[in-house]
Amino acid sequence: DKGNYRHFMVKEIHEQPEVVAHTLAHYLDLVNGSAKLPAGIDFAAIDRLSITACGTAFFAGFVAKYWFERYARLPVDIDIASEFRYREQPLSKNGLSIVISQSGETADTLASLRYAKGEGQKIAAVVNVRESTIAREADFVLPTLAGPEIGVASTKAFTAQLSVLAATAVAAGKARGVLSGDEEQALVRALSEVPRLMHEALKLDAQIEALARDLAKVKHCLYLGRGTSYPIALEGALKLKEISYIHAEGYAAGELKHGPIALIDEDMPVVVIAPYDHIFEKTVSNMQEVAARGGRIILITDRKGAEAAAMDTMATIILPEMPSSVTALVYTIPVQLLAYHTAVFMGTDVDQPRNLAKSVTVE
Ligand code: M6R
Repeated sequence: DKGNYRHFMVKEIHEQPEVVAHTLAHYLDLVNGSAKLPAGIDFAAIDRLSITACGTAFFAGFVAKYWFERYARLPVDIDIASEFRYREQPLSKNGLSIVISQSGETADTLASLRYAKGEGQKIAAVVNVRESTIAREADFVLPTLAGPEIGVASTKAFTAQLSVLAATAVAAGKARGVLSGDEEQALVRALSEVPRLMHEALKLDAQIEALARDLAKVKHCLYLGRGTSYPIALEGALKLKEISYIHAEGYAAGELKHGPIALIDEDMPVVVIAPYDHIFEKTVSNMQEVAARGGRIILITDRKGAEAAAMDTMATIILPEMPSSVTALVYTIPVQLLAYHTAVFMGTDVDQPRNLAKSVTVE
């Protein structure tokens, strides 16, 4: 049931504050300000993580790589399932494999799970469908509590995956003696603010809809980000291409001058995802490179970032200020809304885009 919404996708976008709050409540102890360790996983004994998934779930894993490396000092290999399963890479004896899948039925992700298991790895599965094959075959199940996701474009499952992975990375950091009690508390507090911050982000809907009217006229679009905003740039580009059929690419901002800058002109807008953080200045210089070549910028940032950038943009979308540990969760909302409204202007079948299936059970 779509309720008062025009599409499942936009309904699911708006469900995210609730879904994230519900999922985090399962993984955090808000009274004590701690993250709960998933039962049975001994992070102190693990020396390497391999994270495997497809599509949007892969991008959730990509964000989690930054978190596990920073908060738990755990080296993370992140791989697309269709590559992981055939590459025959050596896996650490004390490694843990994390597979991420909304449906729990994706063929390549399931094959990766079986490959890793065959190599003696323990498997943790972040899944939305509890009765799925991937959930059944994993050693540990870390459920996302997103409820059924109907739109083919994954939205609330993605932020629920990020919620589970963020909480687990914090728990791992504590278990490995990397995070102090105070640091753990600060990270948990920041996570607990995410539902409220998402509500704020959703209020930008009308501004983003107006911007989408212009975006619907372009043929190509580039998304840039650094740090955890890099996977969000990849996710933003995937969302736009899969439902609006506009060609979109996500790039690490620092890669701009290694190739994609050749594409920049006034016909290719550049969406820059840049919260005001320790690497903001670096991203600003990439934006200046774009502006100097006549590129039009859609800047997604906060008030401090907008002031510091001091640039003419096609649009500046201003989110509340927040700790950099949680920007990936909140900055996802405007990129989802931008893709959604653009697709609506294009008149595509938003919930059932051409050529795509909700669950990819063939290779
Ligand atoms: O069910 P899964 O999470 O395993 O699905 C993985 C991808 O097929 C999925 O995320 C796909 O990329 C979405 N259509 C993206 O919106």
